[in-house]
Amino acid sequence: MKNESPDMSIEEIKNSLSGHVSVMGKKIIFLETVDSTNTRAMELAGKGCEEGTVVIADAQTGGKGRLGRKWLSPPGKNIYMSIVLKPYISPRDATVLTLMSAVSCATAIKKCSSIPVTIKWPNDLMVSGRKLGGILTEIKADMDRISYAIVGIGINVNLDLMDMPGEIGSFATSIKHHSGDLYPRTKIAVEILKEMDKWYAVLLNIGKKPIADEWMLLSSTIGRAVKVTVGGAVFTGIAGSIDEEGMLMLKLPDNSVKKINAGDVVILG
Ligand code: BTN
Repeated sequence: MKNESPDMSIEEIKNSLSGHVSVMGKKIIFLETVDSTNTRAMELAGKGCEEGTVVIADAQTGGKGRLGRKWLSPPGKNIYMSIVLKPYISPRDATVLTLMSAVSCATAIKKCSSIPVTIKWPNDLMVSGRKLGGILTEIKADMDRISYAIVGIGINVNLDLMDMPGEIGSFATSIKHHSGDLYPRTKIAVEILKEMDKWYAVLLNIGKKPIADEWMLLSSTIGRAVKVTVGGAVFTGIAGSIDEEGMLMLKLPDNSVKKINAGDVVILG
């Protein structure tokens, strides 16, 4: 198991985080190849690993996306990172962890590059209508509280168009593809973990509202005409806002409001 890739240095991540974070990156595990960093982090959490443990891989053979999709995970190009969190919250509040992570990633990428990243509900990191990254949160819960949550972050950093097979190339992008410049993954991973640490402290000390407010500021969904697919049903309307649980308030043509908790959004205009 190597501890480095050319632009991904775990030593550098640890050094850059030292003294700047209180939870994230307490322990960092680097794997050259893994099926899914989320699956590995889930196993570690099940064995009682410390909160803030991070699993980073250079490549995934079974990268998981939302709604059972696959996540393109070739080596040497992107960030595949999963963080173990143990907040004292109920399972119905778990969506806030995804909102918090989307806010953290968008802010971190904006700090490291000139890319105007926005968030498409619920968790897509977007630029110019194309997907730059996503977040998959998985939880293990008892009756009324989370035992642990795994926040899995995938960011397309130096992926080229030719690395994106089939139709993926028509809706995905990467920091390099958008800006034309190669970016060191170490720097972006450090910035994400610092932002995650900051926003996690906000969540634990103040609550969900500041996170929902910041999410709204970074969102490209709010106020837009959208088509939302929920299972087999399709709804069209205006994306009103999100509530503190992260539910989308969709204003339907008859002026009623439908609360949507999970689905796929296409922005119509
Ligand atoms: C989405 O569908 O938008 C979510 C994608 C999440 C991908 C990341 S990559 C690191 C972590 N490990 C996984 O298997 N998935 C997440």
